[in-house]
Amino acid sequence: MRLDVITLAPEIVEGLRCYGVIGRAFAAGIAELHLHNPRDHATDRYRKVDDEPYGGGAGMVLKPEPVFAALEAIPVSPRRRVLLMTPQGRPLSQADLRRWAREHDQLVFLCGHYEGFDERIRTLAHEEVSIGDFVLTGGELPAMTIINGVVRLLPGTVGTAASLEEESHSALLLEHPQYTRPADFRGMEVPAVLRSGDHGAIARWRAEQQRLRTAERRPDLHARWLQAEAEAGGAANGAMED
Ligand code: ADE
Repeated sequence: MRLDVITLAPEIVEGLRCYGVIGRAFAAGIAELHLHNPRDHATDRYRKVDDEPYGGGAGMVLKPEPVFAALEAIPVSPRRRVLLMTPQGRPLSQADLRRWAREHDQLVFLCGHYEGFDERIRTLAHEEVSIGDFVLTGGELPAMTIINGVVRLLPGTVGTAASLEEESHSALLLEHPQYTRPADFRGMEVPAVLRSGDHGAIARWRAEQQRLRTAERRPDLHARWLQAEAEAGGAANGAMED
């Protein structure tokens, strides 16, 4: 998959290449990352990318011309999707990540910056996406969040196809607790069932923990899970990973 990020701070996004399974996916050519700075498309002597808002007010507004020019300079793949990062967008979900990973061969990220961007930049995007009800100074971290979540779903990046398949049936429940050695750490003991060797009992304990944890921490997800269970005749199961 080809990933293009239009950003005034490419050095931040560049960090994606440096770490872990996502970094290795880029090194292995599973995904390609291309960064584009609107400043390189500014035409005036000072390479100006922002200007004062019409109507007055505090702060500067990202100008449309350098952003349009940056987008227009990017090669177009057959199944491209242009995403605008903004707190005004639709809230991001795991279903979005799966859809983009499955249906598209190119994602272009438009990162807002400064105090805002010219409204006409919106016309470039197929979708506007928010990563949550809070405001960041730019769209770089949201774009990196999405890239991380999409690239881990691409064939060859992470685990086995079977584990992702299991996850896709199961996105509504939180993960059960996990433990490793030692069995007793500062008086905090690993639950006996996990050391019992009884695989059936372990599976039942984990499923129960998932339901309890989800009901306690995310009653909204739990309600959706119950609904899915009812619709599927009891087939909904599994976990949202930490
Ligand atoms: N830009 C600034 N804050 C954002 C958010 N929460 N989601 C997406 N883009 C943003």
